[in-house]
Amino acid sequence: MAVRRFIASGFMGIACQMAGFMALPAHAADKAFGEYLAGECVTCHLPSGRQVGGIPAIAGMPEISFMALMESYARRERDNQVMQAVAGKFNSDELAALAAYFASLKPE
Ligand code: HEC
Repeated sequence: MAVRRFIASGFMGIACQMAGFMALPAHAADKAFGEYLAGECVTCHLPSGRQVGGIPAIAGMPEISFMALMESYARRERDNQVMQAVAGKFNSDELAALAAYFASLKPE
């Protein structure tokens, strides 16, 4: 009986830890993934995502606007060959991660 209770409480402990782990970093993980994917944006857009020359600022852009812009490039509704090619490479999870990352950056 004592052994059983020990096993049961140990299992509950692990289950709780897993639930906590899964509840917390979902958004943080997205952002980290977005930062990783952003490696190919920063050659044109600054690492800070701020405006430079003909490259518009994307730092601090609300996620919903960011997604809408990227999707309209991917669907070729917005005309810019470079961004059409860039946006077309990502699936919606990747775009969401990029959106979360750039939205988290401070605009000027
Ligand atoms: C080769 C250069 C280049 C690369 C690489 C690039 N961009 Fe761009 N991006 C541009 C240019 C130029 C524009 C302006 C296009 C236009 O006039 O529509 C732009 C526009 C945008 C816009 C629209 C901004 C606005 O307010 O209109 C978003 C969002 C964006 N880029 C996100 C990204 C992301 C995310 C990446 C990386 C995955 C990326 N870009 C990679 C050059 C680049």
